[in-house]
Amino acid sequence: MNILILGAGGREHALAWKIAQSPKTGKLYIAPGNAGTRNLGTNLPLDVNDFKNVAMAVVEKDIDMVVVGPEAPLVNGIADYFLQDKILKQIPVIGPVKAGAMLEGSKDFAKEFMKKYAIPTARFQTFSSENLQAGFDFLEKLNPPYVLKADGLAAGKGVLIIDDLVAAKEELTAMITGSKFGEASAKVVIEEFLAGTELSVFILTDGENYKILPEAKDYKRIGEGDTGLNTGGMGAVSPVSFATKEFMEKVENRIIRPTVNGLKSEGIPYKGFIFFGLISVAGNPMVIEYNCRMGDPEAESVIPRIQSDLVDLFGAVGNNTLTDSAIEFDERFAAAIMLVSGGYPGKYETGKMIGGITNLSNCILFHAGTATDIENDAVKTAGGRVIAVTAYGQTMDEALKNAYSTVETIDFEGKYFRTDIGFDL
Ligand code: AMP
Ligand code: GLY
Repeated sequence: MNILILGAGGREHALAWKIAQSPKTGKLYIAPGNAGTRNLGTNLPLDVNDFKNVAMAVVEKDIDMVVVGPEAPLVNGIADYFLQDKILKQIPVIGPVKAGAMLEGSKDFAKEFMKKYAIPTARFQTFSSENLQAGFDFLEKLNPPYVLKADGLAAGKGVLIIDDLVAAKEELTAMITGSKFGEASAKVVIEEFLAGTELSVFILTDGENYKILPEAKDYKRIGEGDTGLNTGGMGAVSPVSFATKEFMEKVENRIIRPTVNGLKSEGIPYKGFIFFGLISVAGNPMVIEYNCRMGDPEAESVIPRIQSDLVDLFGAVGNNTLTDSAIEFDERFAAAIMLVSGGYPGKYETGKMIGGITNLSNCILFHAGTATDIENDAVKTAGGRVIAVTAYGQTMDEALKNAYSTVETIDFEGKYFRTDIGFDL
């Protein structure tokens, strides 16, 4: 079976790494991919949001399945685009239709969905230019800190957590009337602040049944001890110590099952991953956010722990036979440490030669922002997040030790990483 993966990050490299191991995989294509995916298949220079060109490549390369990594093409309706075409609709797209991707594409939609299906989440209200004053009144009724969320996609930057009421009102105005996050903040969800510990839970679903994947914890801030600016993710670990059997039963009963059933009741045929961004509040899971895809860098610690054939599982998603599939996991711990460019998440330089990435043992490298330097037959940096180093261990400490020992040997100008991934577990 020929497979096309859409995306260019560490998550897509992890998907490609796993898919390439399946005996079912014929030719593997990644669009646009990076210097890491290039060793597993053929990179195609396509814009993942240009559906016409993606479709042309699918026909031309005789692709049998499309796996969508990032959220943007899903929210833009790539699955619908395929379903609307006589020929393309035969080709399974792993990723939901637009109506399902709205779980991530609209915070207001997600919150209303959770309210309707009694899924535990923070109390909230949604405001726009029509009722800005009501937004101020709502803020006055809440206790600080105040949580303001742009309704639409804002590249992970659309959530503000503010301690001061006056500042919160100013930001609400900047978001709604000042278009702080463009069209995405024309509507703003204001919600109650929840105090607890976060984790990421994932399922793969065919719209009827689902398989729960290993859970993970990601580390979003640039600085040690979870300080400083938010990033795309500085590392991840799986499993998560406080996600006990009892806790995960609550997650399944109170959150996962009602979500899948809710989507069914709404008539949304959801095929793909659901990412539950959860917070444990006194041992009870609540939903912070939904995403319509795998997490990044969570994928770099979760996918290596899936033992079953992912292509078989994706095939079952396409055929609505997930219920018949077994899924097995590697019991070992996995830790992923992200190497980033100096200055990230602010300004940073790219084009730096990366050394020390060949002949490594005891770890897996998942490239994110890398490109091939054809002239020098080398790999250079091409983004803020550069490479995730993933390692296994019989304990979390051992996994971290194994990953960090490789982190030290990879080098490029300006290399930065957090030394404390997993510190809180
Ligand atoms: P989101 O983009 O919705 O995941 O929000 C980004 C981050 O903001 C989350 O990972 C949380 O750390 C934090 N956050 C969002 N909503 C809340 C909330 N209601 N209470 C506490 N923290 C929150
Ligand atoms: N690691 C969080 C995300 O993928 O959105």
